[in-house]
Amino acid sequence: MTLMFGTTPSGQPATLYPLTNTQGLRVEISPYGGTIVRLLAPDRHGETADVVLGFDTLDEYLVRSPYFGCVVGRCANRIAGGKFALGGKTYQLAQNNSPGGIPCHLHGGLKGFDQQWWRAAPVSSPEGDALRLSYRSSDGEEGYPGNVDVEVTYTLTADNALRIDYQATTDRETPVNLTNHSYFNLAGEGSGDILGHVLTLNASGFTPVNAGLIPLGHVAPVAATPLDFRTPHVIGERIATANEQLRVARGYDHNFVIDRRHDGLVLAATVFEPKSGRILEVHTTEPGVQFYSGNFLDGSRVGKHGHACEHRSGFCLETQHFPDSPNQASFPSVILQPGLTLRSTTTYRFSAR
Ligand code: GLA
Repeated sequence: MTLMFGTTPSGQPATLYPLTNTQGLRVEISPYGGTIVRLLAPDRHGETADVVLGFDTLDEYLVRSPYFGCVVGRCANRIAGGKFALGGKTYQLAQNNSPGGIPCHLHGGLKGFDQQWWRAAPVSSPEGDALRLSYRSSDGEEGYPGNVDVEVTYTLTADNALRIDYQATTDRETPVNLTNHSYFNLAGEGSGDILGHVLTLNASGFTPVNAGLIPLGHVAPVAATPLDFRTPHVIGERIATANEQLRVARGYDHNFVIDRRHDGLVLAATVFEPKSGRILEVHTTEPGVQFYSGNFLDGSRVGKHGHACEHRSGFCLETQHFPDSPNQASFPSVILQPGLTLRSTTTYRFSAR
């Protein structure tokens, strides 16, 4: 059964698609941006709370959302100067972001996948309730070459995971790097900052950035830095440490290189929230994960139930290929070739103790 969620700009009723399982997990997805609007998860006493930041109404998403819960594409994160070369041609994309006063292309541009209306089709899957979203990104959209057909399937499994399967094909070579930009607060949205959450990252390296938040091009060890989350650490414990990387990013906003011993899904991150007992585990087939501590949230936006979206009131774990990959020859390639299919899977699994 679908829910109503305002009206589209063309006056059509807009829908929200709920997925549920028997363990008390529930997610509600909008075809606008493929956005996870609500995600209800039980705490250690079985009490559910909405653990993602967002808005109560579609209109607020349409006006300008800080990428709350959406699919990000064609290229997640930043591309230096909004420029890249491919097949002997230089492409200039929109420069829609400028950290440190240095312009770059962010999250697919002025009207990325986060602001598109996706076709939605509930699908029956033996693993649980599922919703398939599809979108055709036309040749030249946001300056990128080639027609790209994208499918994102959300499945809510019996073992309390929200699985996201990404698929893309193209008719011309083009960069594609997809992620989801949910902001989590495992104590429940509106319950303050996330600095007390305990984070573990399965990453011995990260890609350090310059003042424009563009990778310098190498992988640096996390050892002996406040970015070492290989053992559990409270997020706030070292966030104010004198450290050049934390200073330029105003906190954590870095791509971690996941330690991978085999192909397929590997553990990227575990987060534990002590008050509620909620646990989030992230597994992915991707090589990296952007851990972002919500540094650009400043309380100026009002989110669900009138709650201001305060500084660091949500964190993101954006599984991805590394930022600025189209310009970084040493990073795993994000160039999708015609005739090949990009496939990528990430699972967000919820439990409590
Ligand atoms: C990503 C980036 C951040 C910020 C947010 C959106 O996480 O890494 O720097 O731009 O998206 O606000």
